[in-house]
Amino acid sequence: AEYDAFAARIPKISLHLHLTGSVAPDTVVDLARKHDVPLPAGRDVYDVDAHADLDAFLRVYDTVGEVVRDADDFHRVTYETLALAARHNVLYREMFLSPPAHPHTPYPVMLDGVVRGLRDAETDHGVVCRLIVALHRERDADEGRRLVETVIEHRDEHVIGIGLDYAEVNGPPERFRDAFALAGRAGLHRTAHSESGPPANIRTLLDDLGCTRVDHGYHVVTDAAMTARCRDEGVPFTCTPVSSDIGRYSGSGDGTHRRIVEMLDAGLAVTIDSDDPPMFGTDPTHDLRVLGPALGYDPAPLRRMLGHAVDACWLDDTDRAALR
Ligand code: ADE
Ligand code: ZN
Repeated sequence: AEYDAFAARIPKISLHLHLTGSVAPDTVVDLARKHDVPLPAGRDVYDVDAHADLDAFLRVYDTVGEVVRDADDFHRVTYETLALAARHNVLYREMFLSPPAHPHTPYPVMLDGVVRGLRDAETDHGVVCRLIVALHRERDADEGRRLVETVIEHRDEHVIGIGLDYAEVNGPPERFRDAFALAGRAGLHRTAHSESGPPANIRTLLDDLGCTRVDHGYHVVTDAAMTARCRDEGVPFTCTPVSSDIGRYSGSGDGTHRRIVEMLDAGLAVTIDSDDPPMFGTDPTHDLRVLGPALGYDPAPLRRMLGHAVDACWLDDTDRAALR
């Protein structure tokens, strides 16, 4: 009970959350009606069937992308997810924006709505948010590079980095070397998902794509040399216990979060977030609470992980110091 209260109370830094995956079910239904998009009949939008595997989940994610369309929609969903975050004591978030998931929306329109949403949320709730534009790794490399060009063309101070999402098996990271190099030359920070492995992909992220973080990265612990390197270099891993337990990446779907425990025991810089909160039935407090049994209900690791998130975030040192 003491641990659970601490999980609610501790300030939070959120580094792994997808805007498209954070839309409340009622909002999905509302926007589907607004834009006349049919939703699957006779079941909840975020049915557990959505989680049968990553592909099934990503098709639901794409459905949400279909209904979040105009600038007002983007304003609304951004504002709503940040207002909720503030209730869980989230001070600062770096949030993934997945333009390819919203095929009906030009990038500048999306950006306008999202930026207004995050400004309003900061004014009303005090939560600060910056953006990571995620490239769709199942699409070809040219499309990724063009998206980076678009980001640079519509440069906005709120967009501070790029990422790589969707299924790793269908989009090896080396395919995006040019896109990431272009982003690097433009001064954008870089991260990428590596959820299912193999461990060699982590080396590609660090050495070839210029990533300064790894999203998920559970398989690092299957490679002793890579684990030692990441510990020595302090490479941050943005882990998502609930989505990865359901997806069987961080353990075996049994709630032990075995991989995350191994990463912490190996001295890696682990941070904790929700990935896609309503789609996986979680929130920033719940993410910490589900780790209770794995951590022996000790609040000390939660403090350490908060420290890792402060170190791992892409704020400049003055703003970073304000979070300590
Ligand atoms: N998009 C949203 N959540 C994701 C995840 N866990 N893996 C890949 N792409 C995603
Ligand atoms: Zn993710």
